[in-house]
Amino acid sequence: MDRIRIVGGKPLQGVLPIGGAKNAALPLMIASLLTRETVTLHNVPRLSDVRQLMRILGNHGADAAISGKRMGQAEDAGDTITLSARDIVDTTAPYELVSRMRASFWVIAPLLARTGEARVSLPGGCAIGTRPVDLLLMALENLGASIEIEAGYVVAKAPKGLKGGRIDFPKVTVGGTHTALMAATLADGTTVIENAAQEPEVADLAACLIKMGARISGAGTSRIVVDGVPRLDGAHHAVLPDRIETGTYAMAVAMTGGDILLQGARTDLLQSAFDVLSAVGAEVTQTEEGVRVRRDGRGIRPVDVTTEPFPGFPTDLQAQFMALMTKADGVSRIRETIFENRFMHVQELARLGARIRLDGDTAIVEGMPTLKGAPVMATDLRASVSLVIGGLAAEGETMVHRVYHLDRGFEALEKKLLRCGAEIERISGER
Ligand code: EPZ
Repeated sequence: MDRIRIVGGKPLQGVLPIGGAKNAALPLMIASLLTRETVTLHNVPRLSDVRQLMRILGNHGADAAISGKRMGQAEDAGDTITLSARDIVDTTAPYELVSRMRASFWVIAPLLARTGEARVSLPGGCAIGTRPVDLLLMALENLGASIEIEAGYVVAKAPKGLKGGRIDFPKVTVGGTHTALMAATLADGTTVIENAAQEPEVADLAACLIKMGARISGAGTSRIVVDGVPRLDGAHHAVLPDRIETGTYAMAVAMTGGDILLQGARTDLLQSAFDVLSAVGAEVTQTEEGVRVRRDGRGIRPVDVTTEPFPGFPTDLQAQFMALMTKADGVSRIRETIFENRFMHVQELARLGARIRLDGDTAIVEGMPTLKGAPVMATDLRASVSLVIGGLAAEGETMVHRVYHLDRGFEALEKKLLRCGAEIERISGER
């Protein structure tokens, strides 16, 4: 198992390219199951979750290929992936594949919409809470599917096809909205999705589906209307930039000090977090090339944050922001409202000397002038990267274990940081 070794205390300087968004690429790839034609996705990040999903889609009959780098393409350009699901050869998504990545559960929507049946293992994923799928199943039922749970599998059937319907989510769910959107594109009639997730990744999925011939309005707002069509075509689509990768490196430079250009990043995808970073004392500017984030010699001001669905402060940046607050000039309160168990990084940040107390859904962080490097380990993707950020700002050596979590969601993390002046290296193999 690889480790990452960091010697902290260096400010970050330079240009750091931002890749395509993992959480947009995954549903876009899954949407390719909706059509017999070829869907070509550009700017796909090189991540283990993407590779794993290619295997899962292959299992259903999709031909999935990554094309090599084209002439003139920048070194940091993402992959181009072609996906052709001419025939669905298997409507079962087995436990061995689905248990490793929660998003793969979403194949239930295109399989059901296109073939009238799907048998999908209940999901796994990051250890951040119970993460049920009841709302996804409610959405499919509202489109006329029958749902049964058999031996750990969800068996969904709609032998005569899905029918347009009304889906009113009692709670905002990104995966529920992706599922409803994909299923409704091929349903007979009109579907209205109320209290839909407004995340940019939902709008990106809708944009691609529209290129494929779907009739969708309102994506990116809380009310989406879909007029079903009998079939969808192929399309070309470039994945939008990763706002969580953007926010992560922005937090890192706010913590270490320095000046970096997050190339290809967009402030409009992450306004809430940039507002918070400005309040903390960082300077954030949108330029033609990307987002520039700077913090000079001034201190880090403590700021209270509550995670919320988009456009609020994202839960996927909560751990990274907590790392930043451990060095603030005072006390901050960070409230997590999306997942009930997303504080696994607290005890690991404490190994670096951070002072954090949990009170229900709120972490109370008492900023310290210095952190000290230590061996650390995390149990989910964003928690792991919060430890990298902590390590970059700590004195001495930090060794981050279980790096495979990072590889699920951060492409070339150590290379990108190394180019910006960090002292960081990956050490391969077992300790
Ligand atoms: C997506 O997960 C993201 N994953 C998560 O990113 C992200 O943290 C989350 O949205 C919230 O923004 C991908 O896009 C691949 P939800 P998702 O359905 O869709 C509850 C990362 O680190 N809920 O919006 O699974 C649920 O328990 C990952 O990249 C139900 O109660 O999240 C949670 O409390 C981690 N019943 C809330 O809704 C359901 O049927 C929001 O979950 C579904 C969800």
